[in-house]
Amino acid sequence: MNLEQIFDKLWNQYIIESPDSKRVYDLLIAEGENVVNDHIAFRTFSDCSVDKDHLQKFWLNLGYEIKGEYRFEAKKLTARHYEHKTDPNQPKIFISQLEIREFSTYLQEQVKKCVMNIPTALLNSPEILFSGNCFGELDYDVYQKLLAESEYAAWVYVFGFRANHFTVYINHMKKLNTVQAINEFLKSKGFKLNSAGGEIKGTPEQLLEQSSTMANEVMVPFKQGKFKVLNSFYEFAKRYPMSDGKLYQGFIAASADKLFESTYISNNI
Ligand code: NI
Repeated sequence: MNLEQIFDKLWNQYIIESPDSKRVYDLLIAEGENVVNDHIAFRTFSDCSVDKDHLQKFWLNLGYEIKGEYRFEAKKLTARHYEHKTDPNQPKIFISQLEIREFSTYLQEQVKKCVMNIPTALLNSPEILFSGNCFGELDYDVYQKLLAESEYAAWVYVFGFRANHFTVYINHMKKLNTVQAINEFLKSKGFKLNSAGGEIKGTPEQLLEQSSTMANEVMVPFKQGKFKVLNSFYEFAKRYPMSDGKLYQGFIAASADKLFESTYISNNI
């Protein structure tokens, strides 16, 4: 499977579970805008069978290379970003992982159980990148216990491996080419923005400004029946030039800590 086919799979999967993102995308296209992806973000656990060292193999095989390392203290995450070696027009890939050793024994055991349920053939196939929940039947009690410790853990438990979010690269936009402009546009169309830490995360001095919609709520089947769960958001990024004139391509740990809160239930009032 080539890069384009993988991105198509990921996007089609993302818009089914995050219909607001598709609505925003369609509205931007209808405005005559040029919608380019800045990055696609993935989540995983630090268990060695599925950690970022494991998942990155597929991206490295597809022509990507490691460009940045991050630690998000508040959320107990580490992350890496990857850029395509030869084609700067390809979106960056961002993989974060929950450092499970910093959580309870219960959470660690649940993660182990999930990982043990993944078929070995899938673990070694690039198809794992869009395999969704490959952990088996979901238990709502487990979900709630994980949720109490980490929203991130609960999200991966329910949605598994797939794009957590796509990100519109604001620099490529024709008219809506500031974060303010895109935010005002979204609000005028009735979308709610993630306001944790302010609607705009980062500053021009930090060379990256970002905002995002609030996550969609979807009905998910559990052993006990169907329940509402928050899924994915759509993100927007504006990048600023470094001293050499090139646009900064990295990420800011403090801002991403806040962006992770787009899938936080408490903020989705
Ligand atoms: Ni992002």
